[in-house]
Amino acid sequence: MNYPVDIMSEVLFTEEQIAKRTKELAQRINEDYKDSPLTVVCTLKGAVFFFTELMKNLKLDCRLEFIKASSYIGNTTMTLGNVTISRSMNFEIQGRDILIVEDIVDTGHTCAKLFDYFKNQKCHSVQICTLLDKKSRRQVEINPKYIGFEIGNQFVIGYGLDYNEAYRNIPYIGILNEKYL
Ligand code: PRP
Repeated sequence: MNYPVDIMSEVLFTEEQIAKRTKELAQRINEDYKDSPLTVVCTLKGAVFFFTELMKNLKLDCRLEFIKASSYIGNTTMTLGNVTISRSMNFEIQGRDILIVEDIVDTGHTCAKLFDYFKNQKCHSVQICTLLDKKSRRQVEINPKYIGFEIGNQFVIGYGLDYNEAYRNIPYIGILNEKYL
């Protein structure tokens, strides 16, 4: 079964635009961490596409780790403040520089929780790299160091971003057509 051809009301970022912007962010990260023991942490599931593209462009001797943090519950598009981290984080953190990779920062609760977690584990530094930033929706103060694109208050899908777990595999990003909400 294919997804509907009109699933997006508008394409926001094409594959080419995402790849170009990711390369630019990777160049900055390459420069910023050239002397540091970097661990890049992918937040499942949404960030997988962006994480992979970013990693391919890093020239650093770095480590990759994966965690699962959830803030959206069930089939709603509401976001809740109580974020749960369900993947065990048993990798070495102490003394390392941590770069959290997100597909989107919305209210900021997920990143805030991850940020605090890593800080409490005595890592050397923590920064956030997000492909999309919905700044206008922020409920807690979180300022990602690396931002791909700032977007408005639209429900976006594709390139890892889902609606009810669907449409993550669309290789570009667009606004979900309201008739499918
Ligand atoms: C999404 C996204 C971020 C978070 C952002 O994850 O990947 O992790 O929500 O929202 P916030 O800033 O309001 O906390 P989600 O919980 O939907 O899980 P998923 O990545 O598996 O889709």
